Amino acid sequence: MALRLGDLAPDFTVETTDGKLNFHEYLGDGWGVLFSHPKDFTPVCTTELGMVAKLKPEFDKRNVKVVGLSVDGIESHNAWVGDIEETQGTALNFPLIADSDRVVSDLYDMIHPNANDTLTVRSVFVIGADKKVKLIITYPASTGRNFDEILRVIDSLQLTANYSVATPVNWKDGEDVIIVPALSDEDAQAKFPKGWKALKPYLRVTPQPNK
Ligand code: BEZ
Repeated sequence: MALRLGDLAPDFTVETTDGKLNFHEYLGDGWGVLFSHPKDFTPVCTTELGMVAKLKPEFDKRNVKVVGLSVDGIESHNAWVGDIEETQGTALNFPLIADSDRVVSDLYDMIHPNANDTLTVRSVFVIGADKKVKLIITYPASTGRNFDEILRVIDSLQLTANYSVATPVNWKDGEDVIIVPALSDEDAQAKFPKGWKALKPYLRVTPQPNK
């Protein structure tokens, strides 16, 4: 059955461009992003991997380890890495899984046979510090992802995990957030010393707590 939010992220040990990797060990007590791309030596994938390499300091800041995947083998990955550096102006600085036997692709349901029966789609999984799946997004092969949006969602997820707040429509870092409905006004008083504005009893808006 396909993975769902809240499920434990399946563990695996695989070959990557950084050597053998055990997923749960690699994540340690931090967060993770596992993302698949359809194929090596393809244009959109080349730009995506370059962008993720450029954004690595942003993932590091959030204690998030990134790992990419495609069903191509390790020789192909190693040959392609040079093209990414040459064309995107940055070296690959995170592991890329060689999943030619499709162990991880199957575990994470990354092959959608009615789209393509051999290549992975553009899946994104965000994994929390508790190793549970927090976010699943699926893009088609022809659309490059917006990794600024992935970072924005991670900021929102980490605010929820650390401060019991949710984020409203089109929220951006620094803007007001919403106190989760599960928190009583009494408990909220201790957690939100700056107070909140109750537009409705269930819609309590407060400044972003970590700013
Ligand atoms: C690409 O990365 O450019 C790509 C891969 C598979 C299908 C279409 C585009």
